[in-house]
Amino acid sequence: MSDQFAYLRGGFVPLEHATINVRTHAFLYGTAVFEGIKAYWLPEHQQMGIFRLEDHYRRLLQSCQILRLRSPNDLATLAELTCALIRRNQCQTATYLRPIVYKADLRIGPILNPEGTEDDFCLFSLPMESYLNTSGIHVGTSPWRRLDDNAIPARAKVNGAYVNTALAKTDGALCGFDDVVVLTGEGHVAEGSAMNLFLVRGGHLVTSAVTDNILEGITRDTIMTLAAQELGLTVVCRPIDRTELYVAEEAFFAGTATEVAPITRFDHRPVGDGQVGPITTQLLGLYRKAVHGLLPQYAHWVTVV
Ligand SMILES: Cc1ncc(COP(=O)(O)O)c(C=O)c1O
Repeated sequence: MSDQFAYLRGGFVPLEHATINVRTHAFLYGTAVFEGIKAYWLPEHQQMGIFRLEDHYRRLLQSCQILRLRSPNDLATLAELTCALIRRNQCQTATYLRPIVYKADLRIGPILNPEGTEDDFCLFSLPMESYLNTSGIHVGTSPWRRLDDNAIPARAKVNGAYVNTALAKTDGALCGFDDVVVLTGEGHVAEGSAMNLFLVRGGHLVTSAVTDNILEGITRDTIMTLAAQELGLTVVCRPIDRTELYVAEEAFFAGTATEVAPITRFDHRPVGDGQVGPITTQLLGLYRKAVHGLLPQYAHWVTVV
């Protein structure tokens, strides 16, 4: 048995015992919401630090609100349980945390939250370095479209919606791309398979508008803040056309697992001169410092465990 624990049905259990009944509503219908949170070893504290912990749980509770799921725990308790798991699993390297609020009902039928049914919270952790490489990736435009806000809202991090992500990411990989961008039904660029997109155009940082079926990323917010505050850049949120990808000076993905992943080719066309650009390089460096607790002005983003 491994020495790792997970949290399920109100308690910590060995990872192998963290299992659910096959009749669980979330398994049958995808009716769950989740977060991806990262914790890092902080060299100056010699302790783990969780990046933007409360912001992730604020978004989890918003996802619950959209899906009519009832989190058994409030924000403060969710944050405490997460710190407790890091301690219990004795994490000392970059760690990915996956909290989920899921519909635990065992009755058949897709209806959400009929009277008297309980939803459950579970959480597990695993070691994880960067999800994509940082020396420049090749991104393709996926033929799969992003789910619409009026179908399955991208603003909520709904487990079932990641079928859309899986199709886009897998078919992109089979075509030889490191990752993909997905377009909205109207043909604007929404985001990557599981990360937000940034372009540099005319020296400004450009990212898709929140009305273009994106997850309102916490890394997106971090990057927008660092770009404006630390580099004095103008950040513009607006609809992005597909061909803007081909004429951008620089481009990168941003997400909790992805961190900052420079994009050096889109659909077999080089981005700029095909090398990782200077603004991307600076933002990657600032982001790494922020998550490791090395930017004192952003110490409030890091919860020391
Ligand atoms: C669809 C999607 N977009 C964007 C992101 C980036 O969001 P965040 O920076 O909050 O991790 C994620 C990652 O969770 C995602 O799944």
